[in-house]
Amino acid sequence: MSNYHIKHLEEYYKIYRKSVREPEVFWEKIAEENFTWYKKWDNVLEWDFKKPEVKWYQGAKLNITENCIDRHLSTKGNKTAILFEPNNPGEETQHITYNQLHERVNRFANVLKNEGLKKGDRVCIYLPMIPDLAVSVLACARIGAIHSVVFAGFSATALSTRINDSDCKIVITSDGSYRGNKTIDLKKIVDEALNDCAGVNSVLVAKRINSEVTMKEGRDKWLQPLLNNASSECEPEVMDAEDPLFILYTSGSTGKPKGMVHTTAGYMVYTAYTFKNVFNYKDDDIYWCTADIGWITGHSYIVYGPLTNGATTVMFEGVPSYPDYGRFWEIVEKHKITQFYTAPTAIRALAKEHLDYTTKHDLSSLKVLGSVGEPINEEAWHWYNDHIGKKKSPIVDTWWQTETGGILISPLPNITPTIPTYASLPLPGIQPCLMDEKGKEIIENQIDGRLCIKYPWPSIARTIWGNHQRYKETYFSAYKNKYFTGDGAMRNTIGYYRITGRVDDVIIVSGHNLGTAPIEDVINEHPAVAESAIVGFPHDVKGNALYGYVILKETGDENSFDKLRKEINQMITEHIGPIAKLNKIQFTPGLPKTRSGKIMRRILRKIAANETDNLGDTSTLLNPEIVQEIIDNSL
Ligand code: WTA
Repeated sequence: MSNYHIKHLEEYYKIYRKSVREPEVFWEKIAEENFTWYKKWDNVLEWDFKKPEVKWYQGAKLNITENCIDRHLSTKGNKTAILFEPNNPGEETQHITYNQLHERVNRFANVLKNEGLKKGDRVCIYLPMIPDLAVSVLACARIGAIHSVVFAGFSATALSTRINDSDCKIVITSDGSYRGNKTIDLKKIVDEALNDCAGVNSVLVAKRINSEVTMKEGRDKWLQPLLNNASSECEPEVMDAEDPLFILYTSGSTGKPKGMVHTTAGYMVYTAYTFKNVFNYKDDDIYWCTADIGWITGHSYIVYGPLTNGATTVMFEGVPSYPDYGRFWEIVEKHKITQFYTAPTAIRALAKEHLDYTTKHDLSSLKVLGSVGEPINEEAWHWYNDHIGKKKSPIVDTWWQTETGGILISPLPNITPTIPTYASLPLPGIQPCLMDEKGKEIIENQIDGRLCIKYPWPSIARTIWGNHQRYKETYFSAYKNKYFTGDGAMRNTIGYYRITGRVDDVIIVSGHNLGTAPIEDVINEHPAVAESAIVGFPHDVKGNALYGYVILKETGDENSFDKLRKEINQMITEHIGPIAKLNKIQFTPGLPKTRSGKIMRRILRKIAANETDNLGDTSTLLNPEIVQEIIDNSL
């Protein structure tokens, strides 16, 4: 299997040029030679960024689980597919072979069928990082149900919004989860969420922490007995190439979260191709991505990309700090991890701790290190390179998004010379460009611009669930005939891209995308609050942290401020989740506004970052005097 492995730089350039010259020929050959199809396509690609509409491999019939599991059974049945490392180091590692995964997915798929689920129905999965999470995702795909995984750190309100937006009929959850030395009662959160979800008529509950839970009659069922009674054979549903595979929500700068829709064939081909090449995966490797399956990184590079390649993929339930800061490195040593993929925020957090945590473990198995989710700063890059990779494991700084489905810009290990802070070169088939604010393409190098992609690739999200208009406005309206990423970037003289960060009101905190408007909406619900504005400011571990400027209805007395701060963060925790809590909250009598009433966030960002020497032009402000007052009281 897999004859799409790129081996040296010259070959990369050759393949890249071909992929741009003849994209359809390029992607047709990869699809043709590396996957199991029930029927081949009639047409490789049909697209129109104006509508926008993108269709890959139209007419083809397949099931992605056949490609992730069944086709490996004759050669790799006893190979570990999923290696589960529990939160508690005292609990045993589980090795789930491809044969066992096959049986578990089939049983689970039959449970879903017995619940009355059919092709096209939506299933909400709200589970911790336990094997049932990966199994349930694949079980949905087996029967053609559309999974919508919601990260199990989200609050009840965030969960119910997502359940209702895509009209999920069923929720799969667990009694609770382990996170370091804490336990979280997930089922309770689900119960609360379901008070607002009339459409859910069934909840399947996995047992993980053996906590007391309330089971609602007729609605809630323990999963294990159902699995025990289900048949271990479930014929895969025959899916069309463009049938939706999953919905995954991502924050927008305004409004509700966006349910990005990914479809079957293109997503499969692209994640498989990029997994193999970006991580240089070889047959006996043990690959570990530390993300949660609740995010796109987990979907594409814990589940689908690795499994289509017949890889061994590690699922880690815990956190990097438990039982101590050496946990990641202990796991690397224990399982002889070959590829390790994590986020800059984790690297920065670990780099702050004593070096003993790394030196006492044997990390010599590592061959490739990956980074994802936000720009990796030079200091973190060097720490990763020096102390984890020992200068012998190339770092792949992978740039991509929930919307792109897979990695678009990244070095190839041992092929692309790396430069810290540069995601480097586009992968084959990817045609990036930089645009200026006037909508003109920037041809020159070394100039900051907005990153767009000119041509479709197989795993581009096809729409926003239930809102195609918003999809068009968000991604295809800023620049004619181009997909706009929302990121700023520059290109150096050798064609390497450096991502400089978001250019919209999305702030990336510890690798999580947070839209400012939804958080402001929550704060404004507080009875004492008149108005608020949130900006990001640099933080040494999180990358960015949130700074809130809040106008109270009545000038409060300073003694009440701490209480208000707590209440505001409590509300954010309840409505969105703890990840969106504000680090700093400044109460202010006003906000700098333009004559048209728009808050000038540029100024607020500078004050939050303590860069008040050069605030730029403030003459267009309606209330310029407020600026000094905010500076004087800044935190
Ligand atoms: C940012 C995560 C710089 C970027 C896969 C993007 C990065 C957003 C990188 C998407 C990187 C991701 N360098 N920035 N290597 N990778 N980003 O949807 O701003 O959670 O638009 O997908 O993360 O975040 P998302």
